[in-house]
Amino acid sequence: MDKSKINNFRKDIQNTSSFNHGGNIYAQAKKLNLLPSEIIDSSASLVPFEPPRKLLKCLNEEIKSLGFRYYPEIDHLNLREIISKFHQINPEYILPGNGASELITWAGYEASQFGLSCIPSPSFVDYERSLNCWNSNFIYSELPKEWSNIFPQTFPLQPKGDVLWITNPHNPSGQLWTKKSLELTLKKYKLVICDEAFLAITPNGEKESLIPFTKTYDNLLVLRSLTKIFNIPGLRLGYVVGSPERLKKWNMKRDPWPLNSFAIKVGIELLSDKIFYKKWIEKIHIWINSEKKWVYDELSKVKSLKIHSSSTNFFLIESKSSLSSNINYLKNKGILIRECSSFRFLDNKWARISLQSRQNNKILCKEIHNSFKK
Ligand SMILES: Cc1ncc(COP(=O)(O)O)c(C=O)c1O
Repeated sequence: MDKSKINNFRKDIQNTSSFNHGGNIYAQAKKLNLLPSEIIDSSASLVPFEPPRKLLKCLNEEIKSLGFRYYPEIDHLNLREIISKFHQINPEYILPGNGASELITWAGYEASQFGLSCIPSPSFVDYERSLNCWNSNFIYSELPKEWSNIFPQTFPLQPKGDVLWITNPHNPSGQLWTKKSLELTLKKYKLVICDEAFLAITPNGEKESLIPFTKTYDNLLVLRSLTKIFNIPGLRLGYVVGSPERLKKWNMKRDPWPLNSFAIKVGIELLSDKIFYKKWIEKIHIWINSEKKWVYDELSKVKSLKIHSSSTNFFLIESKSSLSSNINYLKNKGILIRECSSFRFLDNKWARISLQSRQNNKILCKEIHNSFKK
């Protein structure tokens, strides 16, 4: 294909809603003649640590022993048992998936069976994609744009609808909701889908998990992701916890092997050692607490910016005028932040920033300052 055709092809793809995500480092790296790893990607919210060493070790072992010669385990029973021990919940309540994203697609299928979905917004854009997949009806309910800096907080909405989509902590605001306030929604809606993709990495987050409620409320689905915890977006690994009947139904409809053998192996390895897991999570919480304070202090010096409080590793900034030129300035420096006009109820005065290592936070904050001087 000639170069102009490739560029048109890329533009076409970028106009699809599934492209409204952070983490699109490849095109910018190519434009700046950089390696993708040289981009400071503050548009995707990942931890800045290399994945655990035991992950590489187990992948090497898997390649040497079984390699690529066999189909992955079809019922994921080994992985389900490990996750089941991890959350103290029976294995039939668990279904692993190709990242939380694949399971969001199936949650959309489930929602389409119940009627009207409500998406508290601004929200993670993938719920809309998933509902569109199944021609399911949905509405948005606007979340307040001001909130306190004390977390967890009471979930502020009880919108109309049959199905409620909750993100805890919320993306893009980073607000952490109390389990108590979320429990009320379980009594009101035919189905509640709670996306806890960032909960484990959020300091004091795990206490607010709805997973224990899946034993008593069969109208609840909880989505989890290993992407964020272990910095493995390329591996694709997540799981859903919910009623066994529902999950059995999904399993009959989805691809026979949505997870590859390596993702399964890594999940088993990383979740079976609780002591290692606890230490890993503590390291993340220490990083979030210290970098959040440092970055907030730095960015608060920019007069025209409002820095919104967050419980986790990403947060919203709001400017008095459009941030488009600042975002472009940063892009040309090899720094990506998430422009927010694709989020319902936000516009180009808003951006989402994700914490980095101290070294990269220094560059990020310095260049944000410079972008306002231009
Ligand atoms: C709220 C939320 N849920 C789910 C996901 C997708 O996670 P995964 O990488 O496991 O598909 C993301 C990714 O950014 C997210 O922000």
